[in-house]
Amino acid sequence: MLSYTGSRSEYFARTMRSSDLDLVVKNEAASYNQPWSKRIFIDCLRSGYQCWVLANKQQIVAHGVMSVAIGECHLLTLCVSPDYQRLGYGRKLFSLLLDRAHKLEATVCYLEVRLSNKSAIALYHSMGFVQIGERKNYYPGGETYRARENALLMSRSLPIP
Ligand SMILES: CC(C)(COP(=O)(O)OP(=O)(O)OC[C@H]1O[C@@H](n2cnc3c(N)ncnc32)[C@H](O)[C@@H]1OP(=O)(O)O)[C@@H](O)C(=O)NCCC(=O)NCCS
Repeated sequence: MLSYTGSRSEYFARTMRSSDLDLVVKNEAASYNQPWSKRIFIDCLRSGYQCWVLANKQQIVAHGVMSVAIGECHLLTLCVSPDYQRLGYGRKLFSLLLDRAHKLEATVCYLEVRLSNKSAIALYHSMGFVQIGERKNYYPGGETYRARENALLMSRSLPIP
């Protein structure tokens, strides 16, 4: 278990458990317009994906899920509870996931991010990710009803020095 001290309390990185999912889904709904359901997280846990949280005994401030296979990893979700954003937790959790993936022999990481998600794009750029493509109409929801939104496809090699 790894300990991180933020301005409000101390949080530990640990693997996600089924018993975390109500809190995880609550954070997810508060952070995303199109949140993942509990069912999706159950499937991620069953699939053996890297599912991690930053938490103390009372609360979960961040969660992230990454798939790792055949030398590649793919960030599937990364989420920091709105009250705890911009305190370094997103970077810490993503760094941990990348470190885990590298230990599992991944040498490259891929992720998709909404074109409008400037804070996430800034985080990924600051961690050395570069755009390698754009997926048209990848995400549901956009500025108008039934609109869809493009995704940037980003990548970087591992490990991060
Ligand atoms: C994107 C997200 C994970 C970032 O996590 P965070 O804990 O708030 O970010 P951090 O404090 O670790 O910030 C790390 C870097 O990211 C960038 N960044 C983060 N938030 C930013 C913002 N609002 N505006 C500009 N840059 C931002 C900065 O470069 C920042 O470094 P700095 O603080 O030294 O300038 C978080 O905002 C979040 O959960 N958003 C909602 C869900 C989401 O969009 N997830 C990503 C899906 S692809």
